Amino acid sequence: MRHSPMGGAGRRGFRAAGMPVTKAKDVKGTLKRLWGYIKQQKIKLFAVVLAIIASSGANVASTMLIGRAIDKYIVRLDFPGLARFSIVIVAVYALGACASWFQSYIMVGIAQRTTQSIRRDLFNCLHRLPLNFFDSHAHGDLMSRLTNDVDNIGQTLNQSLVQLFSVVLTISITIFAMLSISPLLSIIPFVIMPIGIALSRFFVKRAKKYFSMQQKDLGELNGVIEETISGQKVVKVFGRERIIMQKFQKKNDDLRISGNKAQIYSSFIMPIMNSLNNLSYASVALFGGFMLIKGFGSLTIGKISNMLTYAKQFARPINELAGLLNILQSAIAAAERVFEVMETEPEVMAGKHIKKQTLRGEVVFKDVTFGYSKENPVLKDVNIHAKPGETIALVGPTGAGKTTVVNLLTRFYDVDKGTITLDGEDIQSLARNALRQCLGMVIQETYLFSATIRENIRYGRLDATDEEVEQAARIANVHRFITNLPKGYDTVLSDAGEGISQGQRQLIAIARVMLANPSILILDEATSNIDTRTEKHIQDALLTLMHGRTSFVIAHRLSTIRDADKILVINDGQIIEEGSHESLYAQKGFYYNLYTSQFKRVLQE
Ligand SMILES: Nc1ncnc2c1ncn2[C@@H]1O[C@H](COP(=O)(O)OP(=O)(O)OP(=O)(O)O)[C@@H](O)[C@H]1O
Ligand SMILES: [Mg+2]
Repeated sequence: MRHSPMGGAGRRGFRAAGMPVTKAKDVKGTLKRLWGYIKQQKIKLFAVVLAIIASSGANVASTMLIGRAIDKYIVRLDFPGLARFSIVIVAVYALGACASWFQSYIMVGIAQRTTQSIRRDLFNCLHRLPLNFFDSHAHGDLMSRLTNDVDNIGQTLNQSLVQLFSVVLTISITIFAMLSISPLLSIIPFVIMPIGIALSRFFVKRAKKYFSMQQKDLGELNGVIEETISGQKVVKVFGRERIIMQKFQKKNDDLRISGNKAQIYSSFIMPIMNSLNNLSYASVALFGGFMLIKGFGSLTIGKISNMLTYAKQFARPINELAGLLNILQSAIAAAERVFEVMETEPEVMAGKHIKKQTLRGEVVFKDVTFGYSKENPVLKDVNIHAKPGETIALVGPTGAGKTTVVNLLTRFYDVDKGTITLDGEDIQSLARNALRQCLGMVIQETYLFSATIRENIRYGRLDATDEEVEQAARIANVHRFITNLPKGYDTVLSDAGEGISQGQRQLIAIARVMLANPSILILDEATSNIDTRTEKHIQDALLTLMHGRTSFVIAHRLSTIRDADKILVINDGQIIEEGSHESLYAQKGFYYNLYTSQFKRVLQE
């Protein structure tokens, strides 16, 4: 899985000035949808806005009050008066602190609830997505949308949105307060700030270039690491350690260089802003003092003290503003990625219901044409007739379209042309979930969940008792193996192995299907090499499983093929031969060649 280093999320603490952000294509539409989630908590949001206004107001007011304290009490050396007035100042500070706490307290709740709803809707969507969606999106990308992107939205709601609002509010109130004290003195920060912004933009622009380069280099470096970890066996077998090490060093160097440059350019920004800030501060003090001495513009010490505080306060939020806008942009882009998944046309589940108890299990493919992409048909005019209880074997070279045939029967994909009927009923008119309940599948890539063996088998039928689970395992010839494990049926399976071989995994999957007791069986045999004893076990298990059910078997093992009632030979998306093993063998055609080349070795053993 390849998560982009700063993907949707962007690690807040490390976001230096100039880091590039991904932008949303449809900002307005995305915000509208996001608002749909947030507005469910309108009252709380209103409380947050009030709290922000109170805390920003208290912030500016307390500065104002200190100015007044200087002019009214300190200058006149009225200390009892100052003590009384201090109570007011403390009260205003306390009010501001309370409002600020209250605001974050409520906002945390809003953010958590919103992300919870988004996560829930997104996860629900995942089940309804058609399979071709998964074909066209990398799993890492989907994972990242469910985790990073949703997290990004939450964090932004939680911190940045409120911050943005209070920054804008603080800037406006500060400008207003400065102008009301002395329009003349305000000119200094008003002139110096834009110069600072222009200068830092110059460096941000350059930093941005190298941050993009760094991101690209990091992605490539991660690629090398990922390939090395997941392909470790191949690397070892072909002795490619040295070459990979060299490749890694090259990428590692690139990353160092681009990272260096990006950081150097962005490191100019803070000192520049600070120096200009200090310049503005010093100039206000100097000119203010001068004006005060000359009695110009009715200034007082308190007012100058206020001006100094405001001039300082004015710079900070402006610095923050650019960063906040970036974060907001990346959150909107994250939200867009999330909503994109939700907007995908879901698999329609509605349709006629069928009962698996009364199903005979007659399957007919009539002139079926299908391609994963419209231009490129994989199956062409395929006709298959499986009578109830028959075993149909599909054989053919790799990539011929065997798995595709069963993908259509399960309606993982829908046919482009032709029809597939089940007991005479077009499967297009059946409800997908009802159809799938009639089908039992052992697929090529056996998937076991990270849960106990018992739970994995019970996945076939959730209400099965422990005895039924064990009975199914017995029929699948895997009971003995399981009971020999130290933890038996309670062994937790994980990706890392747990001493379970491919063949044993398949036997567990067979037990799972056995428990589900489907009317139609689909078996896509794994091509992996399995020792002869396990193979015999699988063989026996399959024969029991296929008994009395219509079965589609994609087989690589000769024994499975020979037992089939009918063999279909598929090549290049077409059925080119059809019949029993003996008749096809006698034809000396494609099957004969496939059979003699592929199975000769087995025959001789
Ligand atoms: N999800 C998919 N998206 C696009 N093309 C696909 C997809 N799955 C399979 N194909 C293509 O369809 C063709 C038939 O594939 P299919 O999986 O049916 O072969 P197969 O006969 O099962 O082969 P194997 O014996 O190797 O399992 C191949 O050319 C393959 O590249
Ligand atoms: Mg296949």
